[in-house]
Amino acid sequence: PESAASSLRTPIVAVLGHVDHGKTSLLDKVRGSAVIEGEAGAITQHIGATAVPLDVISGIAGDLVDPDDFDLPGLLFIDTPGHHSFTTLRSRGGALADIAILVVDVNDGFQPQTEEAIEILAQSQTPFIVAANKVDTVPGWNAEENAPIQKSLERQSDRVRGDVDEKLYEIIGQLSDKGFSADMYWRVQDFQNNVGVVPVSAMTGEGVPDLLTVMMGLSQRYMKEEMAIDVSGPGVGTVLEVKEEKGFGSTIDVVLYDGVVEEDDTIVVGSSGDPIVTDVRALLKPRPLAEIRTESRFEKVDRLKAASGIKIAAPDLDRAMSGAPVRVVRDREIDEVVEEVQAE
Ligand code: GTP
Ligand code: MG
Repeated sequence: PESAASSLRTPIVAVLGHVDHGKTSLLDKVRGSAVIEGEAGAITQHIGATAVPLDVISGIAGDLVDPDDFDLPGLLFIDTPGHHSFTTLRSRGGALADIAILVVDVNDGFQPQTEEAIEILAQSQTPFIVAANKVDTVPGWNAEENAPIQKSLERQSDRVRGDVDEKLYEIIGQLSDKGFSADMYWRVQDFQNNVGVVPVSAMTGEGVPDLLTVMMGLSQRYMKEEMAIDVSGPGVGTVLEVKEEKGFGSTIDVVLYDGVVEEDDTIVVGSSGDPIVTDVRALLKPRPLAEIRTESRFEKVDRLKAASGIKIAAPDLDRAMSGAPVRVVRDREIDEVVEEVQAE
């Protein structure tokens, strides 16, 4: 229902995992664009945010999702880089997230950055599911584009199904070694205490309906109260990137995870020195399904609420720092907000 959706915050979903295990490809499949092709060396160097509205999710999930069952507005996905040198970007993405997808290549299983991601999720107590990706690469796999995974598995020969099962149980075993009780997602009743494993292929789209269904279910069931937090208060977010933007000067790409930001708001932004106190000159919003990192045509908005990826143009932002907090002052004392930003 429209009214409920407008009062609930969009859950933030971080996509984490080892380099090349298919994080960007998976998101790419979901948003149907080709960000991956524009990436230098196919390594994601920066975090991007992508908003996917509920109607798109239910379109992809087909029979698995009844949009009437949900009053969340959609999901905000944050892609993170798997390359070992980007630990801070990964932990920033993990810490921001309400829920997460841990992408694991079924052939490679757990790798160093898989383990690192699990530790970030455990530390921040972020509920997550595992996308066991690249099932299409199992020799003899008989693909059916975009099919729900159980339907796909039924199509496979006994030998292929046996091979897939073996790989999946290896991942389940590795999760259990890390102290997580895990099982195939369709056997998991309680996603808060058990990790569901969803076999997927970012290439053929198989299992993607399941993945989105489980993410929506997880958000709706366990995140609801948090989602209903004050989405009308002063905005709070984290700086992902500081960028020069033609015609706007220095800007910051921000994931807004709470409250509202408005044009002309005074904001306080963390920097290497004293926090920056400045006035918002323009709020630049990527269109739904667009990737903030590659989107050049932004829509100027006068107001935006969490959760969203937003580009903020304001004077003095060149000193802002990736990973720093952003807080809107609104009716509060500036000094008090500056202190909060300093303490974060
Ligand atoms: P980083 O951002 O560098 O950490 O990598 P990533 O996890 O985003 O991986 P990416 O999506 O760039 O995929 C890496 C490679 O695996 C690309 O060549 C993809 O085409 C390929 N790939 C990803 N998913 C699948 C899949 O499900 N099946 C097959 N066959 N190939 C895949
Ligand atoms: Mg990537």
